[in-house]
Amino acid sequence: MKLGRFLPKCLAALVLISLERIQCAAALASNYSGWTIERKLAVRERTRALWYHGFDNYMDHDELTPLSCSGQGPDWANPANVGANDVAGNFSLTLVDVLDTFVVLNDRIGFENAVKNVIHWVSFDVNTKPQVFETTIRVLGGLLSGHIFASQSGPFHLPWYRGELLSMAHDLGKRLLPAFATPTGLPLARINLRHGLSRGETLETCTAGAGSLILEFATLSRLTGDERFEKAAYKAFFAIWNRKSDIGLVGNTINTWTGDWTSPEVTGIGAGIDSFYEYALKWYILSGETEFLDVWDDAYASIMRYSRSMDGFWYRLVNMRSGDVAYNTVDSLSAFWPGLQVLAGDIQSAIKLHMAYYNLWRKHSGIPEVYDTSFKQATSHGYPLRPEFIESTWYLYRATHDPYYLEVGERVLFDISTRSNVTCGLAGIKDLRYNEQDDRMESFALSETLKYLFLLFDEENPLHKDDSNYVFTTEGHLLKLGPEHLREMSPSRRKLRKIEDHQCPAYQPFRSARGRRVNDSGLVVGIQGRADADYSRELVALDANEADSTHWSRSGWCERPKVELFSYDFILSPNGKVSPEDLSPSKVKLEPVPDGYVIQNVTGIRTHIVQRFDGRGYDVRKLGHYTVRPGQLVYINDSSLLLSAASPSTAAIEHFGAIQLRFYVDAVDTMFTKNSPANFKA
Ligand SMILES: *[C@@H]1O[C@H](CO)[C@@H](O)[C@H](O)[C@H]1NC(C)=O
Ligand SMILES: *[C@@H]1O[C@H](CO)[C@@H](O)[C@H](O)[C@H]1NC(C)=O
Ligand SMILES: *[C@@H]1O[C@H](CO)[C@@H](O)[C@H](O)[C@H]1NC(C)=O
Ligand SMILES: *[C@@H]1O[C@H](CO)[C@@H](O)[C@H](O)[C@H]1NC(C)=O
Ligand SMILES: *[C@@H]1O[C@H](CO)[C@@H](O)[C@H](O)[C@H]1NC(C)=O
Ligand SMILES: *[C@@H]1O[C@H](CO)[C@@H](O)[C@H](O)[C@H]1NC(C)=O
Repeated sequence: MKLGRFLPKCLAALVLISLERIQCAAALASNYSGWTIERKLAVRERTRALWYHGFDNYMDHDELTPLSCSGQGPDWANPANVGANDVAGNFSLTLVDVLDTFVVLNDRIGFENAVKNVIHWVSFDVNTKPQVFETTIRVLGGLLSGHIFASQSGPFHLPWYRGELLSMAHDLGKRLLPAFATPTGLPLARINLRHGLSRGETLETCTAGAGSLILEFATLSRLTGDERFEKAAYKAFFAIWNRKSDIGLVGNTINTWTGDWTSPEVTGIGAGIDSFYEYALKWYILSGETEFLDVWDDAYASIMRYSRSMDGFWYRLVNMRSGDVAYNTVDSLSAFWPGLQVLAGDIQSAIKLHMAYYNLWRKHSGIPEVYDTSFKQATSHGYPLRPEFIESTWYLYRATHDPYYLEVGERVLFDISTRSNVTCGLAGIKDLRYNEQDDRMESFALSETLKYLFLLFDEENPLHKDDSNYVFTTEGHLLKLGPEHLREMSPSRRKLRKIEDHQCPAYQPFRSARGRRVNDSGLVVGIQGRADADYSRELVALDANEADSTHWSRSGWCERPKVELFSYDFILSPNGKVSPEDLSPSKVKLEPVPDGYVIQNVTGIRTHIVQRFDGRGYDVRKLGHYTVRPGQLVYINDSSLLLSAASPSTAAIEHFGAIQLRFYVDAVDTMFTKNSPANFKA
């Protein structure tokens, strides 16, 4: 592969390590012709009907209790019942949470009524103690999103509206602020909305709870001009990130007073951590603040390096300091990760994890809360109508347009309709094995699960053509900020980041290769025909059904897929001999130039490389203490390299753990011959 083609002047921005080809059962063509416009609309309308069935039964409590045909607020009698009291604050939770779902459903009258009801009914002067995080994402986010659509011109503009929702959001924000008054700036997990902090409050919180408030808090600040919220959330975000381990991982639980991680220091992408990563990327998208993109890039590289399993499917719980696997369980919340990967541009990784989750869904007709990947068994069997899996399905469908994802959505709708639809609404599933229903409809069933499902089938939704900076929060709330609310990048930073070139490769559908190594047949077989589709079924010990059987052949063979490590960290050496790290390379050795860096002498330079999303090798991300931004070039001008290229030392190649780097050489100096590859080992 010629690297010069896409990075013409590049010497070392790319490093190639051979990618293993995976051959599996011969893929056959699939029958997708069934997805006509009419069929999509019909499924969309069934989703809409289910949504209104849930909403119309809901009254003004926090949550609908669909089996007892009533509603529930906080558990006043038992303050220790955090299952209820963490979310229910006696503030009409579900109503606030669904405001912008009316926008997605294109129901202007419903939106107007809901906004009026929120204004008339909801007060935050309540003696309840909900979680700061849950209240932020469900209530603050709901109010802000409602405000954005009610106030901006467009089909949902309400002529009588005078910013009431924003005032309510401001009031709520001020009630949450005292939680941040800790030595670290990390907010306490819960706060009484009327009385503020109480004595004896738990000091422990989780990474997601403390570190993913920036979308709502900063939007509140930008819209009201009251900067305290953005500052508090910003400080909390970096209070988490600055405590990451040497390998770039953040823990799950942290003490808000001391800033110490709580043992066991285990981390992953799911419960307790998930939205921290999500908000790093999404706040960058919404605000353009590149600091958050940098956090995302580094965090992603570490997660992919340590948490992703060797086959590239599941993401494990690992020790945050060593990266060693700690538990082999995955949770239902982690099913959001493929959606985030799509947003970041890593579609191939997203497809894999989503496939694994879809097989989990097919096996259980829902996603069990916790699943043990080594015993291939669910260990916690509830499914409270969580949105994460269907959210990722929507992102993947938008990115690939593969009708496979419509099949997934139709199956989800079928299962929810059959298992959860009761006379008075939608019931969560307490135990997937026995179809035991729960007398609870969590607010996210309407504000997220059915919203994303509706969007999946609503091809013409205006959001799908909206190329603005909008994001869905972790609670599925639509936020966008106009240019008047964005900060200009400082001239020096703009100059610094001018040449950045982030990659977001377009999706290339999987084509049937018919056993040959090149893409000759041109027959698009889609996700179901991928070579690793039956492997991913094997991950959850699911037997192939008739439809699967059309995609594989008994005469095919299967191999365990293996992915290359996502990132490497090593010390450069010109000849394969171990060099000690040069802890402070002088400008004579390594020097910044306008479009990147020049290495005059590679010896001892610590280098960090990270895989590219387009599958074409690795990018250098760090050199010594410098950060190499995407698109920056690394020139190597070390004459000893050319000498060693002429006489490669085989002994060095066999050296344990050696990484052989192949650099594409272009003429930057007369000493080099144009287009001759040079090898050196690290
Ligand atoms: C493809 O799907 C459509 C609609 O489900 C069906 O009518 C048709 O018979 C199928 N074609 C084949 C070749 O299976
Ligand atoms: C809870 O909210 C309802 C209105 O939805 C109100 O009537 C009731 O008094 C509130 N309860 C308490 C204890 O504040
Ligand atoms: C859900 O249940 C209601 C009442 O039992 C029924 O009217 C409705 O058709 C059902 N919806 C779906 C999609 O099954
Ligand atoms: C595969 O197809 C693409 C686009 O059709 C083409 O650019 C590429 O060269 C092909 N690869 C091979 C190995 O034939
Ligand atoms: C590169 O630096 C190392 C010390 O870090 C030195 O021993 C070596 O001679 C240098 N090479 C050249 C070509 O200057
Ligand atoms: C490359 O190295 C040579 C000799 O070591 C030096 O004369 C030249 O200026 C260097 N080129 C760049 C672009 O730094």
